[in-house]
Amino acid sequence: MLKQVTKQLATQSVRGFSTTKQNNFKVTVCGASGGIGQPLSLLLKNNPLVSNLALYDIVHTPGVAADLSHIDTQSTTEGHMGPEQLGKALKNADVVVIPAGVPRKPGMTRDDLFNVNAGIIRDIANEISKSCPKALVAIITNPVNTCVPIAAEILKKAGVYDPKRLFGVSTLDVVRARAFIGAALGVNPQQVDIPVIGGHSGVTILPIISQCQPAFKGDQATIEKLTVRIQEAGTEVVKAKAGAGSATLSMAYAGARFAGSLLKGLNGENGVVECSYVQSDITEASFFSTPLILGKNGLQENLGLPKLNDFEKKLLAAALPELKKNIQKGIEFANA
Ligand code: NAD
Ligand code: LMR
Repeated sequence: MLKQVTKQLATQSVRGFSTTKQNNFKVTVCGASGGIGQPLSLLLKNNPLVSNLALYDIVHTPGVAADLSHIDTQSTTEGHMGPEQLGKALKNADVVVIPAGVPRKPGMTRDDLFNVNAGIIRDIANEISKSCPKALVAIITNPVNTCVPIAAEILKKAGVYDPKRLFGVSTLDVVRARAFIGAALGVNPQQVDIPVIGGHSGVTILPIISQCQPAFKGDQATIEKLTVRIQEAGTEVVKAKAGAGSATLSMAYAGARFAGSLLKGLNGENGVVECSYVQSDITEASFFSTPLILGKNGLQENLGLPKLNDFEKKLLAAALPELKKNIQKGIEFANA
């Protein structure tokens, strides 16, 4: 037995794993029965760092949990339904991912979702402050630009806010930029590296194409068209779905990637970098997405603004007033 364990540890160290690593994290998905929630939960069920997957929604979680629990991966799956079970779903979670709330229909902006979704985020953040105040929290719910400041204010009021543990998920913007640029350059999108900074709506989404690796080859008109396509990609999906909601599958992929990166950071992996919308002093907007190094306590280091060319500086100038307005709206809501 001892021999077996020693052999196992030796193999782990050959693979570069430290024996202090955990591999047994609890992840809670709030809004787990929805268009994003279900495929996101499926992908998380397949993540070897997850030992307990807790699914929370106001409908259908017993069925979703029963279904996922038949998958032969190591994690256990629990379903929790209704506000009275939210505390149990969140209890001692290491990571909470939140796609709870209504999606857009054609003709709506993300800000039009505020009236319904702001209250949902307030209530979930309130319960997080009691049941898992140390969790890393990733908010997918729109409007992300406003929902993250709402959660921050609620956690502050409860005296448990740690800006290094609260994230707005803007990963889908990066995923899209990689997909579109990969197709344009004729390279594997997985090999494209591009920072997408700012916020997550229209002009606040800032793809920094000048810093793309491999370098993007195209004239200014092509770059401007590509920039607008990345900024408006959510609307492209909303229109194509024609009333049946917004991006769900690509968002589940992006959400699973971001949650996976949070878990890698928690697990002590080095060099985990993602762009995410966090409290920030990099610009005059108090929340802003830039590339971040993720670590054992969440945000380990903010890598700051990438180098911007003149076109990108103008994009940033156009984004800041909108972002500041979105943030202020969240702060006022939470403190009303
Ligand atoms: P959906 O309607 O398919 O699913 C939402 C789920 O939330 C439903 O199962 C619903 O029952 C649940 N829900 C509603 N109120 C709740 C509450 N109080 N507590 C827990 N769960 C609750 O919507 P969707 O397509 O999954 O989108 C969800 C959200 O994600 C929307 O706000 C959408 O705009 C946003 N979104 C964000 C991004 C991003 O890049 N950040 C991308 C796509 C969608
Ligand atoms: C997206 O970017 O796809 C999401 O924010 C959903 C939306 O409403 O566009």
